[in-house]
Amino acid sequence: MSHFADRRSRSLWMEVAVAPNAAPLQSDSECDVVVIGTGIAGISTAYELTIEGLRVTLIDRSDIAGGMTARTTAHLGSPCDDLISALIRLRGEDVSRLFHESQSAAIDRIEEVQNRESIECDFRRLDGYLFQALNTDSKIIDDELEAARKVGAHVHRLVGVPFSHCEQQHVLRYPRQGTFHPLKYLKALAAIVEAKGGTFHAGTVVESIEERDDGKVVVSTGGGKVVARAAVVATNSPIVDRFALHTKMAPYRTYAMAFSIRKDAIPDALYWDTLDPYHYVRLQPGEGQTDYVIVGGADHKSGEADDAEVRFQSLEAWARNLIPHVQDVTHRWSGQVLETIDYAGFIGRNPGNDNIYVHTGDSGQGMTHGVVGAMINSALILGRDAKWAEVYEPSRKTPAAVGNFIKENLTPLKNFAEYLAPGELSAVGDLKAGHGAIIRHGLSKIAAYRDEAGKLYARSAACTHIGCHLHWNSFETCWDCPCHGSHFAFDGTPLNAPAVSPLAGADIADQP
Ligand SMILES: Cc1cc2nc3c(=O)[nH]c(=O)nc-3n(C[C@H](O)[C@H](O)[C@H](O)COP(=O)(O)OP(=O)(O)OC[C@H]3O[C@@H](n4cnc5c(N)ncnc54)[C@H](O)[C@@H]3O)c2cc1C
Ligand code: FES
Repeated sequence: MSHFADRRSRSLWMEVAVAPNAAPLQSDSECDVVVIGTGIAGISTAYELTIEGLRVTLIDRSDIAGGMTARTTAHLGSPCDDLISALIRLRGEDVSRLFHESQSAAIDRIEEVQNRESIECDFRRLDGYLFQALNTDSKIIDDELEAARKVGAHVHRLVGVPFSHCEQQHVLRYPRQGTFHPLKYLKALAAIVEAKGGTFHAGTVVESIEERDDGKVVVSTGGGKVVARAAVVATNSPIVDRFALHTKMAPYRTYAMAFSIRKDAIPDALYWDTLDPYHYVRLQPGEGQTDYVIVGGADHKSGEADDAEVRFQSLEAWARNLIPHVQDVTHRWSGQVLETIDYAGFIGRNPGNDNIYVHTGDSGQGMTHGVVGAMINSALILGRDAKWAEVYEPSRKTPAAVGNFIKENLTPLKNFAEYLAPGELSAVGDLKAGHGAIIRHGLSKIAAYRDEAGKLYARSAACTHIGCHLHWNSFETCWDCPCHGSHFAFDGTPLNAPAVSPLAGADIADQP
């Protein structure tokens, strides 16, 4: 086992800066469409609209493409990652077939765009292997084969993947999947959008989005307003819908790490196993004779564990057992995915609005969902036929998913009860440098962090979305909200939607 000294959360992609010159919004402006959020969903949507001649303004509170898209592992896979058989149980064969078709079309679209625009982003078509996890039976593979055939997927059943101990495992091979470097791809798309008159604003928090009586949409930020014919809310978790969509999805944290590996040590392919949560593996070209192998998994519901070291150790042990060629650990990071109760994202007109569109709930398939969403929302805005819109319709009801709905909505109920529990420490004086903890202060709970220099940051422990009790994440040095996925920096700045406002200050004296 390695002794990886770098404790930062840093993905393999983060060295690439997308639209690095984007400045904060500082005046009022007008455009055809305003896109809020600049991950794969936002930038892909802006690209689709820009090439149709629309003027698009994109706004992000952070760096451009600095959200979950910078933390992905970028498998471009068409089979539902919650299993096709599970999707059929909830949505039936017809919708599942359309889901599969749309995810395949997203890979096609990325291939087409990177070809047409001559983007060097390490895009490859390759096989995807779903393999039977060690010490499990092969029934999942049997069921999945039958389900894959029902939705018209190209699939082959075989035995063995090129990993140790896996020579006899049952496997499904899905041809013509894909992978790429997500930020190289988005950097090029952003440059095209800018060259055709689009504008990017980084460091600009969108505080509200309103639809006026004349149908125009007004997006307000601290630096000015943008008035547009339409707005697309691609903030990963929606800031436009306070409650309804959030009850139909749940945030899960997932972990990834990269190892150096000798070129050609394992075939270039996508691999994922049948466990829940599943392990996922892909390669990324490196320099000279070295590539990277990226391994991910070890998911848990956001905020329900703060043991990243243990999870990385278990991922590393799993990787070294199955792929003995892996060498040094080069990167480790984590991020969050939003799992909907019926496994497809919510994409389309925001319920109750005519000209506000939403994109969220893209599960472990946010790359392909991002591109499907761009195709659907741009078609709706352009007044064209939006193929696959019914699969992702945000206001849909899925009666068969009621079990998942109840399970996921127990989290907020349990969470509010935490306000009655004692703090993790009895006084701020007990808080060590570099640590965060919840401290009871009279009737309220304080989210307290002490930096390495000893400075105390004390904020309310109530999430500014709808008030859930936050949990400390020591690996990411942030506060996670288990209810709907907001993250806050140690000083209370929101990092991940749906929260928009910073944590309230807390009046507590330090006891150094
Ligand atoms: C470790 C990991 C591995 C993954 N692996 C895969 C994979 O292999 N394949 C796959 O398909 N998917 C994968 N995913 C999922 C995928 O990466 C995400 O679903 C996808 O990147 C989400 O893109 P997005 O554009 O919706 O959101 P983001 O990239 O998060 O973009 C949203 C943006 O909105 C901005 N924003 C939020 N609130 C505001 C506001 N109020 N004002 C202004 N801006 C705001 C944020 O700053 C952010 O930049 C993985 C995710 C993780 C974490
Ligand atoms: S994200 Fe909804 S209460 Fe925190």
